[in-house]
Amino acid sequence: ISAMEGDSVTLHTDVTELQRDNVLLWTFGPQDTHIAKINRVHNETFHNGADGRFRDRLKLDSQTGSLTITNVSTELNGLYKVEIVIENKVSSKDFIVKVYAHLPIPVITRYCPLNPPSSVSRCELLCSMLNVSHVTLSWYKGNSLLSSISVSDLSSSVSLHLKVEYQDKNSYSCVLNNPISNQTQHLDITQLCQTHSDVSNVLVLTGRRFDVECDITDKSTQIHKLISK
Ligand SMILES: *[C@@H]1O[C@H](CO)[C@@H](O)[C@H](O)[C@H]1NC(C)=O
Ligand SMILES: *[C@@H]1O[C@H](CO)[C@@H](O)[C@H](O)[C@H]1NC(C)=O
Ligand SMILES: *[C@@H]1O[C@H](CO)[C@@H](O)[C@H](O)[C@H]1NC(C)=O
Ligand SMILES: *[C@@H]1O[C@H](CO)[C@@H](O)[C@H](O)[C@H]1NC(C)=O
Repeated sequence: ISAMEGDSVTLHTDVTELQRDNVLLWTFGPQDTHIAKINRVHNETFHNGADGRFRDRLKLDSQTGSLTITNVSTELNGLYKVEIVIENKVSSKDFIVKVYAHLPIPVITRYCPLNPPSSVSRCELLCSMLNVSHVTLSWYKGNSLLSSISVSDLSSSVSLHLKVEYQDKNSYSCVLNNPISNQTQHLDITQLCQTHSDVSNVLVLTGRRFDVECDITDKSTQIHKLISK
């Protein structure tokens, strides 16, 4: 079950109506933490569990035993299990919940190339995003995909280059997406690619991060400062 942060997710048992002698238990995670339970025999029902992550987030339908988790967050990702005892037979059902964080809008900056000749005829750009996981970053020209890069694990930054002619009139956009949503940033060539503009990039050299400040003129790129972070 995929959801966005803040959504409500309902895990449905296939029971239409629990009977007096039915016992139902919801567990979460590798330790099978008990998070909700209905035991009519002992007139016992709870939904919170020992786990603070679920505080005030669980709603248990007393008729069907279905569990609703409100305002989900990525820390509630994982395996949920329900076990129901009906006439001494145990049946169980598993759910995998995957919560995706809200995507930020990717940032397009002018790239300060370290190799000046490459910058003379074309404007170099970088679309980037910090602190992401399970996303794909892509450049589009109109509706056609030009390039893309995917990160699966948590990554401190992801970025993708684009070179355009200064006079290019096509519409370009950078799109960040995960399996259930996307965010788009449109490229404004006139604004970003004017000559004589200062640009600032983050550069990673031999594992260290630098802020690069440079001055792009018609003929050359000069690096003003290289500040170690
Ligand atoms: C079950 O417990 C609740 C309080 O937790 C109580 O109000 C209710 O009367 C009890 N029902 C039975 C049938 O004992
Ligand atoms: C939802 O959960 C977040 C923490 O994950 C919390 O900051 C926020 O206040 C909650 N929103 C509501 C409406 O409960
Ligand atoms: C990225 O994550 C690190 C460590 O989790 C944090 O210190 C930093 O502020 C985050 N940066 C942004 C832009 O969210
Ligand atoms: C972005 O999401 C919208 C729906 O929210 C969808 O119509 C569109 O095709 C998506 N674009 C990309 C590039 O994934």
